[in-house]
Amino acid sequence: MNLTQKWDVIIIGAGAAGLMCAATVGYQGLAVLVIDHAPKAAAKIRISGGGKCNFTNLDVTAKNFICQNPHFVKSALSRYPSSAFIEMVERHGLHYEQRELGKLFCKQGASDLIQILRAECTWAQVTFSLKTEVNKVQAVAGGFQVDTSVGALSCSKLVIATGALSFPKLKASGFGYAIAEQFGLKVLPTRPGLVPLNFEGKWHERIAELSGLSLDVAVSVGGKCFHEAMLFTHQGLSGPSILQASNYWREGEPIQINLLPNSNVLDDLKQLRKQASSLNRWLGQFWPKRFMQFWLTLYPAPEDIANASDETLEAYARQLTEWSLYPSETAGYDKAEVTLGGVDTDEVSSKTLEAKKQHGLYFIGEVLDVTGQLGGYNFQWAWASGVACGTAI
Ligand code: FDA
Repeated sequence: MNLTQKWDVIIIGAGAAGLMCAATVGYQGLAVLVIDHAPKAAAKIRISGGGKCNFTNLDVTAKNFICQNPHFVKSALSRYPSSAFIEMVERHGLHYEQRELGKLFCKQGASDLIQILRAECTWAQVTFSLKTEVNKVQAVAGGFQVDTSVGALSCSKLVIATGALSFPKLKASGFGYAIAEQFGLKVLPTRPGLVPLNFEGKWHERIAELSGLSLDVAVSVGGKCFHEAMLFTHQGLSGPSILQASNYWREGEPIQINLLPNSNVLDDLKQLRKQASSLNRWLGQFWPKRFMQFWLTLYPAPEDIANASDETLEAYARQLTEWSLYPSETAGYDKAEVTLGGVDTDEVSSKTLEAKKQHGLYFIGEVLDVTGQLGGYNFQWAWASGVACGTAI
């Protein structure tokens, strides 16, 4: 295939945002080439959501995103809401299911969704060059020259859709940040997000003993609270509530865990006192035996509950609802679903995603300082920013 024609648009990155942008641009009759250094497009979509891809959410607002400018995502999300993506996948006959908190997943597998994106790109006459390394990008008269392992390519407009640092084994890279810096755009510090939290020393040992166990809890950190499952692992804590909390946790800070989020604990303890009932039996309704033993060894229940003082009950209620633990670190980019930080959104137009300092250069998807909470928000940002950019081009 001869790729040396002058392309209207080159998109670097054949992930969620790049594919969506490519189809949008292609449908306008423009010549579009998508380059990726990976052997296959959409590797993250394939493994996402445990292979079922939580591709969007029924309730998406700017509040579901972390970004230095909390208003930045509004424009793209309002012009391409989750209903628009749902309408598109329904047109293709995708089998999907709704799970808790408005999350939508593919019913059979994420590859169904990849096929849909591929079909859209084929219909829009998008050209692909996979297994292609980009060595250099430079602005030239009328556009850009992109030096690659398959030769020097040129285009009028260049879209950076190379994602972020999470999951390096899927060829994630900091390429987008380097390009941003090359053109004088600010890149905000990055850190792993939606990631398990590890522990050291005695807490590492204690938690590892409970490995495999899952509890329904509410985890609070940085003024946010997430009521979902928490999983004990050999390294520390994971599961949806912890992944969510990890976006807001910083080294040296505690996380606070409410172990009985569906109970009014103090009222229940007072009721037990009145009835002189067994506290252990009461806890046993909520927890597996293994956790009961662990908890009661560490935090013995008040002796003689029938005669316990209000202060004693209040202290025990706090212990159950504000269990403070100090993680030592996150599990890092190898295990993180997303990357916090990235290209400063002040550097690009929220309407077109074009760099303010470089005409014809666009940044979409996760490479930007936009991180969604767990629940399909990150893909919705990829779709919406891809469409906003593709439409503006
Ligand atoms: P994405 O990472 O998808 O694509 C970037 C592309 O650029 C890749 O194809 C890569 O090969 C290519 N590239 C990188 N550097 C390059 C270079 N130097 N040269 C050429 N090409 C280069 N989100 C969600 O909403 N629901 C979910 O269920 C999940 N689940 C999930 C599970 C796991 C394990 C992970 C790691 C992530 C998720 N996510 C998620 C997050 C979601 O996958 C992520 O936010 C989007 O894929 C981001 O889309 P982008 O297109 O921006 O980057």
